[in-house]
Amino acid sequence: MEDKRFHGKAGEEYNLFKLACPHFKELENTLGNIIREQFQDRNDSEIKVLEIGCGPGFTTLIILDSDERTKIVAVDNEPVMITQAKEILKKFIDISRVQLIEDDALEFLKKQSSDSFDVFASGFTLHNLPNNFRQKVTKEIYRVLKSGGIFVNADKYALDNESKHKKSLEWQLHKFKEKYSQINRPDLIKEWTNHYLEDDKPNVIMRESDSINAMNEMGFKDIKIVFRKQMDAVLFARK
Ligand SMILES: C[S@@+](CC[C@H](N)C(=O)[O-])C[C@H]1O[C@@H](n2cnc3c(N)ncnc32)[C@H](O)[C@@H]1O
Repeated sequence: MEDKRFHGKAGEEYNLFKLACPHFKELENTLGNIIREQFQDRNDSEIKVLEIGCGPGFTTLIILDSDERTKIVAVDNEPVMITQAKEILKKFIDISRVQLIEDDALEFLKKQSSDSFDVFASGFTLHNLPNNFRQKVTKEIYRVLKSGGIFVNADKYALDNESKHKKSLEWQLHKFKEKYSQINRPDLIKEWTNHYLEDDKPNVIMRESDSINAMNEMGFKDIKIVFRKQMDAVLFARK
């Protein structure tokens, strides 16, 4: 997909996103806790994880910490993010627990064998994709997961209730203003506000019930939202 959305400041200074998202850590930790709980009673020697949109590697570190058997193939199509991830994840790349791949999500998925991953995990990535592209990516994720494998996505899922959704969007836009004013970065207020308004367009917005219904049709089971704060949620499902 050519439409790269982390090319500018949002990519170079993605670290500062956390400042304006107070529940960022709790949301991503939930993803790690799910992986830990799902595998703690199993004796697999290795847990094969596919991560799409690793960015600088925050979610990757959470997955690594969730269970020492995790081995991650982490994919991102943005060179600026891969450069940061190479540094942050160096010690795990060196011991082959992380393989970093610069590629488009769908292109990469198409090259993978069916039934080959135990876990699909991702943070703040799928919502960036246009709906029709996300649909293709999700279908491919289903195909490459092993039977019984899990899908866990910590991301922006729009509330179905329109007025609640608008309220949560306003809350987040206000956080950008408040937090980036404090560090004197009006440029970031503009960049992230525009990014969020783009995510809200009808061809992009990732609504909670639309996502659950589409995944249900694809064959996913046990689909549920296991965490939510404001616009952000963790969605779990099983193949
Ligand atoms: C907001 S960052 C998420 C980083 C990290 N997972 C986190 O939760 O903090 C989203 C990442 O998805 C990547 N991305 C967006 N579209 C993609 C695509 N089509 N293929 C691969 N990566 C993509 C972007 O380059 C970016 O690094």
